[in-house]
Amino acid sequence: LKHFLTIEGLDKALLTEILDRAESFASMSDQQVKKVPILRGKTIVNLFFENSTRTRTTFELAAKRLSADVLSINIATSATSKGESLLDTIRNLEAMFVDMFVVRHALSGAAHFIAQQVAPHISVINAGDGQHAHPTQAMLDMFTIRQLKKDFAPLKVAIIGDILHSRVARSEIIALNTLGVAEVRVIAPKTLLPAHVETLGVKVFHNLNDGLKDVDVVMMLRLQKERMSSALLPSESEYFKCFGLTEEKLKIARPDAIVMHPGPINRGVEIDSKVADGPQSVILKQVSNGIAVRMAVMAMAMQPQGASL
Ligand code: CP
Repeated sequence: LKHFLTIEGLDKALLTEILDRAESFASMSDQQVKKVPILRGKTIVNLFFENSTRTRTTFELAAKRLSADVLSINIATSATSKGESLLDTIRNLEAMFVDMFVVRHALSGAAHFIAQQVAPHISVINAGDGQHAHPTQAMLDMFTIRQLKKDFAPLKVAIIGDILHSRVARSEIIALNTLGVAEVRVIAPKTLLPAHVETLGVKVFHNLNDGLKDVDVVMMLRLQKERMSSALLPSESEYFKCFGLTEEKLKIARPDAIVMHPGPINRGVEIDSKVADGPQSVILKQVSNGIAVRMAVMAMAMQPQGASL
């Protein structure tokens, strides 16, 4: 395979290979990422049909560190606003001798659709499709966990918040289980959990205090209001009271627990500023790690010997 569309179906050895490759790009002492000539002469197009700060920028930086030529298309000012279809947009960019598309789209399956349509030499990386998957976010989070906790096997990980609408949660759950953590928990109100969520390999909690007990990793999620009907939308103050992570609540987790969040964070809704900016928070480390991990994924997708994604 030459695309990276989902974590589903990938085995532990391949996920570990991505993490090891990312580690080779990141200098562990100072977090500076080295520039390498691996994708010199290749053209990568960032196609973001949904807004992004972290993912789009770190993909662009990663492509530059791999020495590729990278274009970030501004969809708002592109010809899609004149009615051009997704497929016609892709066909026209293909005609410019593109080697890779990095795609974010509000529709689940959009990256898979593009991967089926493009010429055989082109790779497609999913940068988030609807509620379905955000595989590079999951991998940079796995990288951050491994960096700080070393071994996945003994870890209890809690994912807290709007699991129902979260592509990040789906990809994290699959990655954590594939890498063999001891336990994945989801903590959320019933209205923000998918039906039959237990079948994903998680323990379900509806009470934050119960769910946080003994966990090593606390992953917070924002309320994905853009994917919610107003009937589902909880009152933010009520939500914070029940599911918001405060310094007090964090004390229930293990004393060395790390606090993660894929961003963007909504302070005072799912997380208190004192926690987001506190000593246990690794939120900005996650962002930094996005560069090396995205370098690894792009390099492996474009190099035949590592193209088992
Ligand atoms: N985590 C994440 O996907 O953030 P952005 O929406 O800013 O890319």
